[in-house]
Amino acid sequence: MATRLFEDRAHAAFYQKYRFSPQENLQGVIFSYLEEKRVSPGQLAVDVGCGSGQSARMLAKHFEKVVGTDISEAQIEQARRAPHPPNVSYLVCPAEELPFEDGSVDLVTAFAAAHWFDGPRFLREVERVLKPSGCVVFSSYNLDMRLCYKDCSDELTEIFREIQAQLFSFKNEKIKLVENNYQEIFDSLPFQEKKRMTDIFDKIPLSVAEIIGFIQSLTSYRRHLKIQPEEAKSLLQNTERR
Ligand SMILES: C[S@@+](CC[C@H](N)C(=O)[O-])C[C@H]1O[C@@H](n2cnc3c(N)ncnc32)[C@H](O)[C@@H]1O
Repeated sequence: MATRLFEDRAHAAFYQKYRFSPQENLQGVIFSYLEEKRVSPGQLAVDVGCGSGQSARMLAKHFEKVVGTDISEAQIEQARRAPHPPNVSYLVCPAEELPFEDGSVDLVTAFAAAHWFDGPRFLREVERVLKPSGCVVFSSYNLDMRLCYKDCSDELTEIFREIQAQLFSFKNEKIKLVENNYQEIFDSLPFQEKKRMTDIFDKIPLSVAEIIGFIQSLTSYRRHLKIQPEEAKSLLQNTERR
């Protein structure tokens, strides 16, 4: 079943401001694979679950046309509002019903999104819309991140792990797919040729305010805020102070 946790406008605004787009090393891995398979440069790429558009914009240089799709109107509103190249457009639609012709798409991507979809229905749509020579890329960062700053990296990482532990009980079931590094999603792909790549590391400079903003964009934090608003806010304040 599709999961709808991204409908709220405040959440979409945190997304637009604090979620990072796929970074240099991840982009390198993806585009060298697509070039090797002669999919990039190509005509049409569809970025499913595009959120506020970070990942769709990244594809613009490599495809004549990029369409970012998302089930959440609030996310698509943010994506349309953010500056984007003229060959990128956005559509509100479920991943399980993609409004594209059979065999018309060179590349289907889903960044930090495939785990939210109804897997079997989505994959049937992917098979239908892809050209015979087409490719899919599903990617997600996991939450096992390290925070690095001068000689207090261990301490900062520990604080980040603690907040994750405190948000544990508010986590959606589907996050397990991320924690297992997309192994189940990879196994379910119905393609003869497929490749799974893990341990791709990127460094992202973030201020404390940006880390706090990132935490506020997490679905587990949004759920905590909804159920126990005062506790959620004080968790955030304590984390920021530390
Ligand atoms: C974690 S966000 C990722 C957004 C973006 N791709 C990124 O890299 O930041 C997941 C997105 O998937 C969307 N989503 C969840 N279920 C969906 C579905 N069934 N169909 C389409 N989009 C969906 C959500 O609305 C949300 O914007």
